[in-house]
Amino acid sequence: MTRAAVHPVAGQGGGATLPRHVAIIMDGNGRWAKARFLPRLAGHKRGAEAVRATVKAAAEMGIEALTLYAFSSENWRRPADEISDLMGLLRHYLGQELDALHGNGIRLRIIGEYHRFGPDLVKMLDEAMARTAPNTGMTLAIALNYGAQDEIVRAVRSIVADGVAPEAIDMEAIEQRLDTNGLPPLDLLIRTSGERRLSNFLLWQAAYAELLFVDTLWPDFGAEALAEAVADFGRRERRYGGL
Ligand code: FPP
Repeated sequence: MTRAAVHPVAGQGGGATLPRHVAIIMDGNGRWAKARFLPRLAGHKRGAEAVRATVKAAAEMGIEALTLYAFSSENWRRPADEISDLMGLLRHYLGQELDALHGNGIRLRIIGEYHRFGPDLVKMLDEAMARTAPNTGMTLAIALNYGAQDEIVRAVRSIVADGVAPEAIDMEAIEQRLDTNGLPPLDLLIRTSGERRLSNFLLWQAAYAELLFVDTLWPDFGAEALAEAVADFGRRERRYGGL
């Protein structure tokens, strides 16, 4: 059976095919700052502005879900001051943007093991998710302390903990236990800054996603770059293993 038969496929928006679920590996903040002789934090700040512009544009286009890789489980290897800068930015972004997200009907979702962050940030995230849960617009999923292999391990643990019989384990049983459960299938995965790796992001979900690697550094990404990416997606032919 093809995946297209299992899941509804990318929708039609204004005549062109619109991806239902777009994910982005936001890369290149550090290089953006370095090229301007600025501290890395300046790059992350501009990166947060790019997040704002991209979220707004995605919602306006009618994309159903946007998943952003904000902090990977490997990012703990960065210097402590950069980690706390990133957490500070996230807190600032949420504090500043939550009303606007909510006002635009956007539902916030956090994927990954975010409970490893400080209790105040966890509380803030939980409250933001609870407040926006009834919204019916785009879902904005932010990946925090996320690693796809870890996500799959957690799903397998949950299957075992639930006592599922081996013959009852199917793709559905796994998908239901992934952090992305309930989101539309991933159609388009974008990585900025010229790197061509998945870096442990949405490995299961990317099975049939179109991959797009762009040279743009994340702080330079925004509405225009997203529109180009979506147009590129619309030109691709997806066969899901068929002819
Ligand atoms: C990659 O650039 C970017 C990150 C590791 C963090 C992304 C975080 C933000 C955009 C800020 C806040 C997040 C939200 C959701 C508001 P890099 O540091 O790896 O760049 P480099 O590869 O050029 O060094």
